[in-house]
Amino acid sequence: MSVVSTFCKKGGVGKSTFIGFLAHYYASLGKKVLIISADDQNSIFKIFGVDEKIFDVNDNYLEFWLAGHAELGDILIEARENLYLIKTLNTDKLSMKLTLERNQEKVIKRLISECNTYFDYIFVDFPPSSNRLTEVLLEMSDHILIVVGLDSLGLGGFFNTIQYFIDNDIDLSRIKYIIPNGYSKNRRAPKISLDKLQEQAKEFTKDAIVLPALQEKSIIKNLQAEGISVFDKTTLDRYDQNAKNLLNDDLLELFKLINVD
Ligand SMILES: Nc1ncnc2c1ncn2[C@@H]1O[C@H](COP(=O)(O)OP(=O)(O)OP(=O)(O)O)[C@@H](O)[C@H]1O
Ligand SMILES: [Mg+2]
Repeated sequence: MSVVSTFCKKGGVGKSTFIGFLAHYYASLGKKVLIISADDQNSIFKIFGVDEKIFDVNDNYLEFWLAGHAELGDILIEARENLYLIKTLNTDKLSMKLTLERNQEKVIKRLISECNTYFDYIFVDFPPSSNRLTEVLLEMSDHILIVVGLDSLGLGGFFNTIQYFIDNDIDLSRIKYIIPNGYSKNRRAPKISLDKLQEQAKEFTKDAIVLPALQEKSIIKNLQAEGISVFDKTTLDRYDQNAKNLLNDDLLELFKLINVD
């Protein structure tokens, strides 16, 4: 089992989108996949159109499992075949508990590693903010993917992320991939940002692979507004060539370059 995370200390850069697509891709290959939302917004649920499940029952949050009030099976929410989600309620409160009770960290680590029996991959969807839970889950991640928005704010987010790793003593070599997001052929700014990002990645994250940039595509927003993932077969029929191009040209080519085993 691998633990894979998308992280960036900047909001709205595509962390949830990317990890949602990547997780669904593996699930569509027949792998058993779990996505843990470490984000109280639980926005990963919206990506799969199951956001009504965020509030349907109030005793199936990550916190209940970690506190021993629920079994893993009680808190799993099925989003697609082979693809399950776990929602969080209040990660700041959980982080406080982690800080005050040192053995809680061991409990989290044990419970997550026990998922090995059921899952091939665990994906963690982080918020842009951070707390003790963020640190523990980053520590547990075998593969850390940094998603960077291709504009000046996005580059600032990349710097803040580097700074966060340094401040918290997280080895920068644990960053495996950098995913530039929001490229556009018709605008100058993303191209300039991409050049700068490549330079800065060379300087700060020598071990990371900077992947080809993901293009800004209105279809990504449209699909998300409808709660449809690009790996939903029906999507392809309804969205004709546009969805097919996104799937084949952009995502599948990109995913071929990523090894999270
Ligand atoms: N390549 C893209 N083209 C077009 N829209 C995109 C692209 N990537 C992400 N988006 C859109 O940008 C918005 C933010 O994406 P997303 O929620 O994945 O970001 P995030 O980094 O997870 O945000 P947060 O920090 O709030 O969790 C969404 O509406 C999403 O549909
Ligand atoms: Mg998100």
